[in-house]
Amino acid sequence: MPHQIAFRFEDGVTRFIEASPTETVADAAYRQGVNLPLDCRDGACGTCKCLAESGPFEMGEYIEDALSADEAARGYVLTCQMRARGNCVVQVPASSAVCRASQAAVEAAISEVRQLSPSTLSLTLKDAALDKLAFLPGQYVNLQVPGTDQTRAYSFSSLVRDGEVSFLIRNVPGGRMSGYLTGQAQPGDRMRLTGPLGTFYLRDIQRPLLLLAGGTGLAPFTAMLEKIAAEGSPYPVHLIYGVTHDADLVDMDKLAGFAARIPNFSFAACVASPDSAWPNKGFVTHHIQPAHLNDGEVDVYLCGPPPMVEAVNRFIRECGVQPASFHHEKFAASA
Ligand SMILES: Cc1cc2nc3c(=O)[nH]c(=O)nc-3n(C[C@H](O)[C@H](O)[C@H](O)COP(=O)(O)OP(=O)(O)OC[C@H]3O[C@@H](n4cnc5c(N)ncnc54)[C@H](O)[C@@H]3O)c2cc1C
Ligand code: FES
Repeated sequence: MPHQIAFRFEDGVTRFIEASPTETVADAAYRQGVNLPLDCRDGACGTCKCLAESGPFEMGEYIEDALSADEAARGYVLTCQMRARGNCVVQVPASSAVCRASQAAVEAAISEVRQLSPSTLSLTLKDAALDKLAFLPGQYVNLQVPGTDQTRAYSFSSLVRDGEVSFLIRNVPGGRMSGYLTGQAQPGDRMRLTGPLGTFYLRDIQRPLLLLAGGTGLAPFTAMLEKIAAEGSPYPVHLIYGVTHDADLVDMDKLAGFAARIPNFSFAACVASPDSAWPNKGFVTHHIQPAHLNDGEVDVYLCGPPPMVEAVNRFIRECGVQPASFHHEKFAASA
């Protein structure tokens, strides 16, 4: 007998679907036209994480990076692994509009691959079709490695301008996409993009923002800052950008440009390596001041590699101040 699942979206909309005991909640939702955020469908990426408010269910297999034991204890679930055992209410961390938006698949040509540092690449794609890829700044797409059936997730690091969009990509030694971009890619090569995806996007600015970036986790923030530069912010926006080595610090000129254009915007960059020549040393958490947390009247956005996201998560939980909202994205390696 099918069970009834109520999805509560963050814009207050509630939608009901039916799910049989044998199908996952995510599959049932898609079958009935509710496009829950979803990527690997394999319990590996954490994209489909929601809060199960009530109702019995069982979970399939997943890894700790996708859903930690602490999150599971607090009622979070991966809908790609969740099977209902009765009627359930599930809170979805996205708006109903985002969940109804169908994914687009478009092709675009490489206009530039730039090596910003030994560890970091910038990729720019161009095609008139990119204008159809409506995304919210902070979201990501799956990019197919040309000539293979492999895809990798990358956050947009810019908005689409004149049919061009950019990405900030870590050069992983031996990596499929990294190897293609550093060894084979030529201007004009076509790449396939599928998306947009993800619930990590800039919400309406209703209070000060604290943006925390680790490494190429800077990407979604430069896209968000382009939007803020165009529309302004009534509240202060502070970015702390941390990397491991001096050579990993990229796009500092871009950040300085945002600071010049956005009156309320400030930023600090820090380098963790003890042999760094950069004046600000240490991790992102060393540079979070009580004023940035504003007694909790702050929206925090956090993005970077899983260990950095976990460490900052822990710091925020233990610092005794509960932010009004807290959004994070882990740049997990592909399953
Ligand atoms: C939602 C989401 C958004 C993402 N957005 C971005 C983004 O904007 N920019 C970005 O650079 N990355 C991003 N990533 C990570 C990205 O999808 C790839 O995993 C990464 O770029 C490696 O791809 P690759 O093909 O070069 O290496 P792969 O062929 O996937 O990996 C080769 C080997 O390196 C290991 N490896 C992979 N990544 C790392 C790493 N960071 N450190 C150490 N070892 C690693 C793998 O486990 C594997 O053994 C995102 C991931 C997710 C889930
Ligand atoms: S889509 Fe469920 S964990 Fe990746």
